Amino acid sequence: MSAAIEARGLSKRYAKGREAALSEVSLSIPPGAVYGLIGRNGAGKTTFIRICATQLLPSAGDLRVLGFDVRGEERKIRERIACVPQESRPLYFLNVWELVYLYLKMRGLDAVESRRRTTNVLDELGLSEVKGTLVNRLSGGMRRRAMVAMVLASDAEILFLDEPTTGLDPIARREVWGAIRRASREKRTVLLTTHYLDEAEALSARLALLEKGRLLLEGPPSELRGRVRLPYRVTVQGSFLPSELERFGQVSDVEGGHLVFAQEGAARELAMLALSRGAKVSMGPVSLEDIFMEVVGRSIEDDAPAAEAT
Ligand SMILES: Nc1ncnc2c1ncn2[C@@H]1O[C@H](COP(=O)(O)OP(=O)(O)OP(=O)(O)O)[C@@H](O)[C@H]1O
Ligand SMILES: [Mg+2]
Repeated sequence: MSAAIEARGLSKRYAKGREAALSEVSLSIPPGAVYGLIGRNGAGKTTFIRICATQLLPSAGDLRVLGFDVRGEERKIRERIACVPQESRPLYFLNVWELVYLYLKMRGLDAVESRRRTTNVLDELGLSEVKGTLVNRLSGGMRRRAMVAMVLASDAEILFLDEPTTGLDPIARREVWGAIRRASREKRTVLLTTHYLDEAEALSARLALLEKGRLLLEGPPSELRGRVRLPYRVTVQGSFLPSELERFGQVSDVEGGHLVFAQEGAARELAMLALSRGAKVSMGPVSLEDIFMEVVGRSIEDDAPAAEAT
C-alpha cells in the first residue's frame, strides 16, 4: 500500500531572511502505524504537522497526504484527518461529553454511533467521572485528555497528535498510550510528536529525528542504534581512573561511577575488566535518549563556528 504521508524536499520558511523551519525534508510515513516525530524545541515538528494538516503551505517541495496534494486538494485531506494541536483550547461552554459527542456528530457520524464512541473513549481515557463537567473547569491535563479523546474517537484515517501527553500524569499518559495503540490496531495512521523519548520508542513503528528543520535520522527505533558510532553503554561503579576508561570509548561521570559509550567489543572488554576488579557493572544497548544526545549533539557541534585561530 502506498504511503499515508509522503514528503519530498519539503521546506518551510515563515518569512524572508529567516532561517528555514523545515529544510528539504523527505520521508515516507507508512499507513496503519504510529510514526513518531522527535527533536528539540524549535526543530520543526509542529511546522511539519501543520503543513500535513493543511493549516500552512510549504515554501518548497511536495507533500502528499493519503495521495492528495496539500496544494489544491486540501478539502479531500481535511475530511480524512483529525488533529490535536500543540496549543489547543476546547470550546469552553460545553461539558466533556458534549465536546466529544458534538465533534463526532459534526464529522458526520450518526447519533447512535457518536454516543457509543463518546461513552467508550471517555471510559478508556479515564474521563467518565468528569463527563458532565464544563471544559473550562477542568484541570489542564484533563482538558488535554478531552482533546485527545475527541480525535481518537473520530473515524479519521490519519490522526495528528502534537504532544498529546504533555502535562499528563503517569497514569493518564498510559491511558493515552493504550488509546493510541488501539487506533493503530484499527489500522489508522498516527503521527505523534513527543519530548518523552520512552514514549516515542514504546509507541512508534518508525521515528524521525528533526534538528533545525533538517531530518537527521529516520527508521524503526530498533534500527536507529545501528546508526550511532558507539551503540553500547556500560556503567561501572568503583575506582577507575578516567585514563583507564578512555581507551574503551567516550567517558562521562555519573552518580557513583562512570558511563562509557563504546563499540560492542570494547564494551565487553570493559565489562570483563570491571568484573575482574569486583566492581559493579551494567551493560546494554544505547537508549533512544543516548542516540538523541549523540546525533543532535554532533549536529550542534558541526554547526558551531570554527574556533578562532590563535
Ligand atoms: N507562526 C510562526 N511564525 C514564524 N516563525 C515560526 C512560527 N511558528 C514556528 N516558527 C519558527 O519555526 C521553527 C520551528 O518551530 P516549530 O514550532 O515547528 O518547532 P517544534 O519542533 O514544534 O518545537 P517545540 O518542541 O517547541 O514544540 C522555530 O524556529 C520557530 O520559531
Ligand atoms: Mg511543537
